[in-house]
Amino acid sequence: MVHCRERGSELYIGDGAHMILHEQGSAAQIAGVTISTIPNNPDGTFSLKTLKMRLRNPRNVHDPISRMIAVENTMNGKVVPMSWLKEVVKFGKEHGLKVHLDGARLWHAAVATNTPIKEFAEGFDSMTFCLSKLGAPAGSMLCGSKEFIFQARRARKVLGGGMRQLGILAAAALVALGNVPKLIDDHRHAKSMMKAVNSMGSDIFWVDPIDAQTNMAWIEVKETATVNAKKFSQRLARVEDNHDDDQARVLAWEVLPNKIRLVYHIDVTDEQAEAAERKVRYVIREMDPKFRI
Ligand SMILES: Cc1ncc(COP(=O)(O)O)c(C=O)c1O
Repeated sequence: MVHCRERGSELYIGDGAHMILHEQGSAAQIAGVTISTIPNNPDGTFSLKTLKMRLRNPRNVHDPISRMIAVENTMNGKVVPMSWLKEVVKFGKEHGLKVHLDGARLWHAAVATNTPIKEFAEGFDSMTFCLSKLGAPAGSMLCGSKEFIFQARRARKVLGGGMRQLGILAAAALVALGNVPKLIDDHRHAKSMMKAVNSMGSDIFWVDPIDAQTNMAWIEVKETATVNAKKFSQRLARVEDNHDDDQARVLAWEVLPNKIRLVYHIDVTDEQAEAAERKVRYVIREMDPKFRI
């Protein structure tokens, strides 16, 4: 709302971005912004060549007004390459576009690559990161220049988002920031899960090693007459047998008909991660005929 205050402004963003997939199209619904989506590559980048072709002619009365680029990092748990982020910032400056970083999970990128967070944020006009991804019950931080934040506070007020006695959330935020070094455990859990799946050698369930980067474990599911990602995730959430390995209820999201996502967070202990791993292996053995005697 701050970067795109002029009506008819246009935003450029990857087609897999959270901002456009999971926020009710709020940029359009609330800010009146036209959204131009560019196909995301598997590493979270998108083509700046394509973006350049999308730019509008500011003197053409038929065109919206090119105003802003938004990028997400991490994207689907993957650390977006630093070199590309620098190119985006440069592109934005060259073409007079504001550049926003959706860093909801940026701390994961910082921890996974042992890079200071400010290096990822350098040159962006604004960024957000989620305290809730670090264990707080609510809250995201919006960062930018003093004037940007002042304008954002005005926007927040009109949206009804202003709060007064905020100390209770600020206290939780401080605890959450102290949790950053522990993210490494979430990454370890996710990687261990993915390794465990691939070590089985199933023909139906496997992991693409490129996905093993931060706190998300992704499992590919080959669709067969009896198996798909939805059936797999539903079975993972159920306890059906007396067997020790079936006792955990594992909540996964079937993002695609052939892919599920498991997200690790601060409240998942080593024991729970191990139980989840045993459950996943148990269900794979149950669903893949290769393992039936
Ligand atoms: C990538 C990404 N962007 C933005 C958000 C929104 O965060 P919030 O609801 O705290 O504003 C989320 C939350 O799930 C997210 O994962």
